[in-house]
Amino acid sequence: MATLAIYPGSFDPLTNGHVDIISRGVRLFDRIVVAILKNAEKSPLFTMEERIEITRSVFRHHPNVEVDTFDGLLVDYVERRKAQVIVRGLRAVSDFEYEFQMALMNQRLNPHIETVFMMPAEQYTYISSRLIREVFALGGRVHGLVPEIVEARLRDKVLASNRA
Ligand code: PNS
Repeated sequence: MATLAIYPGSFDPLTNGHVDIISRGVRLFDRIVVAILKNAEKSPLFTMEERIEITRSVFRHHPNVEVDTFDGLLVDYVERRKAQVIVRGLRAVSDFEYEFQMALMNQRLNPHIETVFMMPAEQYTYISSRLIREVFALGGRVHGLVPEIVEARLRDKVLASNRA
């Protein structure tokens, strides 16, 4: 049976850490769905449409990577998709507590779904979407930390706000 894995998150924005985890995931699973949570933040940096477009563009040459959105309980979405696995990235000990709670809650909600943790390459272990948003908002460089398309879209946002 083909293994379908769901990689859920906010992806606001997609970082090179996410890209690394997805790239590792496609080597382990037959297909991986990047599932973007709808309405997670009241005022996200990137709209849902932008996040979908960015992720599709980065993985356009990977037929085994699909981009989708979901709302409600993650385990219900995973069941609807007939997937078997939730993939989460683990960067540091600081991630562990939240991830552990979430994995066990999801296990309780649906014991048939397994959470698989994957470690990104070392150089991505300190990157988070939250830090990228903060560094960008304060005018810092995020080159090499996010895909080029994200960098370009961030530049567009600066130009648009300068024009406004
Ligand atoms: O990018 P994030 O913020 O780390 O992703 C968190 C996400 C989307 C995986 C989590 O918030 C989630 O699964 N939300 C859906 C609602 C849900 O199922 N909550 C119970 C989880 S135990």
